[in-house]
Amino acid sequence: TRFVVLISGNGSNLQALIDACADGRIQGQLVGVISNKAEAFGLQRAQDAGIPTQVLANADFASREDYDAALITALESWQPDLLVMAGFMRILTPAFVQHFAGRMLNIHPSLLPKYQGIKTHQRAMAAGDDVHGATVHFVTEELDGGPVVLQAKVPIFSDDSVEDLAARVLTQEHQIYPLVVNWYCQRRLQMRDGRAWLDGRCL
Ligand code: GRF
Repeated sequence: TRFVVLISGNGSNLQALIDACADGRIQGQLVGVISNKAEAFGLQRAQDAGIPTQVLANADFASREDYDAALITALESWQPDLLVMAGFMRILTPAFVQHFAGRMLNIHPSLLPKYQGIKTHQRAMAAGDDVHGATVHFVTEELDGGPVVLQAKVPIFSDDSVEDLAARVLTQEHQIYPLVVNWYCQRRLQMRDGRAWLDGRCL
């Protein structure tokens, strides 16, 4: 199974996926990395691992439709079976989502369906929650709304800063994302009828 990772920033989840491929925890091939930001540190991580990269900057395109069409072309040059969104901070058009329907995973730093969108750690703390976490889900046209595959929970402590909590969540992200990507690569995981299925069981 061939997969591409899409990033916009630091790429610590990308690093977790690179490491999992290198030590055999992911039985699949990371064939390319795309960033919409030229300065994303994740590009360096990919290059250090010998993985081809492309940058597709938003500013170079007149519309979201034009951008997503170019993104499809760039991605298809690698013929991926799976797209893995890892901190890719763009909302995708319906045409893009339809093109890769059932072949796209995302990781989101909250226990979905709680806290879709941004600033999830701040919102969980402000709400007085004592549990927070991360979710891996299939991507559908509904932002952060596709079927959930796997979640990891972490505690929120009363003296946490936002950075403390974000770091605690990120550590869990690095554990769960490689697991899920490997399930997909091993064809144990599918999206069907708008639901996620693992080993033939509905999640
Ligand atoms: C992660 O918190 C992920 O859940 C969110 O964006 C962040 C990306 O971090 N979608 P990194 O670039 O993988 O370090």
